[in-house]
Amino acid sequence: METLLRLPSPEIYAKAAALYRAGELVAFPTETVYGLGANALDAEAVGRIFAAKGRPNDNPLIVHIAHRDQLDPLVRLPALATALMDAFWPGPLTLIMPRTDLVPDAVTAGLDTVAVRMPSHPIARAMLEACRLPIAAPSANRSGRPSPTTAAHVLEDMNGLIPLIIDGGPCEVGLESTVLDITQERPCILRPGGVTREMLEAVIGPVEVAGSVLRPLREGEVARSPGMRYRHYAPKGEITLVRGGEADVIRALRLCWEAAEAAGENSCVLCFEEHAAALAGVRCHSLGTLSQPESIANRLFDVLRQLDTEGMTRVYSEVMPADGIGLAVMNRLGRAAAFRTVEAADVIARRGAAPV
Ligand code: TXA
Ligand code: MG
Repeated sequence: METLLRLPSPEIYAKAAALYRAGELVAFPTETVYGLGANALDAEAVGRIFAAKGRPNDNPLIVHIAHRDQLDPLVRLPALATALMDAFWPGPLTLIMPRTDLVPDAVTAGLDTVAVRMPSHPIARAMLEACRLPIAAPSANRSGRPSPTTAAHVLEDMNGLIPLIIDGGPCEVGLESTVLDITQERPCILRPGGVTREMLEAVIGPVEVAGSVLRPLREGEVARSPGMRYRHYAPKGEITLVRGGEADVIRALRLCWEAAEAAGENSCVLCFEEHAAALAGVRCHSLGTLSQPESIANRLFDVLRQLDTEGMTRVYSEVMPADGIGLAVMNRLGRAAAFRTVEAADVIARRGAAPV
């Protein structure tokens, strides 16, 4: 199949609508990451998403809508929903709600809940308006790859597999939406994202964060969000997070990199802009500046993709505080590293030993 990469226009929206109605897939930009869409009411079309992504079919999808009146046929609204929609829609907040029978099992992986969000990106909105359908869309990457934040990333993963990619340039947030479960007594963040815990709590009071956001699932632990079971955002090289005091971390990053290079690994360090000068001579990728945490969220997936392009085998990364948008950054970085973490002081103590 030939994959067309096209800039947005009324003709392209009409083409996308026709493809959706014919059961085909279209990739489109949102404010978070690019999505790979299909008509959410067409189980066969939804099946094509799983095939194109190589996604396990027990991992449910998010349904995207342009207007609130599209919700009525899909969900039974929990009490908290209206306040959350008033505050954060359109925007990077996905709500898990009890679903109706209209939603195919293929979308929800058989769960009795469905994830819904109203994106704010003008191209996503124009496309949703043009097709007048609820669109099921996961991130438009092959399963296990970092989510795409540019049309070029989508093409890298989906070339030949889908008929159309709408090119809307780089995504603003750069990390996927916050997934909030509001079906239980206490609302719970299943996946942190652009709408932070602090922002949610300002509107609805206390919000839990699922345990597996900052650590691997424990033996026998049931994932409240099926996506948590999988090793997402996994570059081919091995990433290790280095934590500790600032001076120790900088010293340890240099030691780790030198030891890896000496061992014949192709290695680099992920550091914040603030520490680049102190790491002169070390092969570094900048994660952005701590003074603008949004910039870190925004470039993370692009950096992770570059590691693969450059054939990195060992990567050592700084960490940031897990509050505000930092919770989402540390969730994605942690999972990319399979939560492998070392203490900088330990690295310094066994200086000269084999690479960690
Ligand atoms: O920003 C985003 O959310 C992007 C753009 C395209 O909208 N989409 C996205 O979709 O990231 P995806 O499929 O990559 O991630 C959806 C997440 C998965 O972790 C999935 O397990 C969870 O939402 N999810 C979907 N339906 C669910 C449900 N009914 N209950 C619990 N978790 C659910
Ligand atoms: Mg995804």
